[in-house]
Amino acid sequence: MTVIVLPLFKRACRSPKSMCFSNLLPILIAAGSLIVLPAYSADEAAQMMQGKSLFTTAAPACAICHTLKDAGSEGAVGPVLDEIKPDFARVTKALLNGLGNMPSYKAILTEVQIAALARYVSRASGAEKN
Ligand code: HEC
Repeated sequence: MTVIVLPLFKRACRSPKSMCFSNLLPILIAAGSLIVLPAYSADEAAQMMQGKSLFTTAAPACAICHTLKDAGSEGAVGPVLDEIKPDFARVTKALLNGLGNMPSYKAILTEVQIAALARYVSRASGAEKN
């Protein structure tokens, strides 16, 4: 069976317009990698979106005081987050306790919002890869 079918496929593939399997293969591989590519789950993707939004909308907004390239912010009161690259735990701690001139967000944001910000800042600054 294969012996008979394969030459038929080969012949069909000579025409550029034909939709034979070997012509479709690169498309199938590309489609497959699109599904596999996202490094994190849908939950984390949602956290990233929420965190990015909170970075500029929390009151007071992180963006006022911090530079973070991904968020397009250029605040200069606090450290440049792209440089200090704080990990998830460090962002969470700063948000819960405050630090120096930075206020605590414990009474301003929910736990879910603080986790979203920690996820976003740690990833966007390059501290955490996944
Ligand atoms: C009023 C200005 C201000 C705002 C608003 C602010 N920060 Fe800060 N932040 C600072 C300052 C100043 C420091 C450095 C404090 C120090 O080291 O004494 C800091 C430090 C940090 C650190 C480093 C903590 C560490 O362990 O060194 C992180 C992470 C951080 N801020 C994240 C945020 C996030 C996220 C937000 C928004 C929810 C935010 N900041 C809002 C001023 C601010």
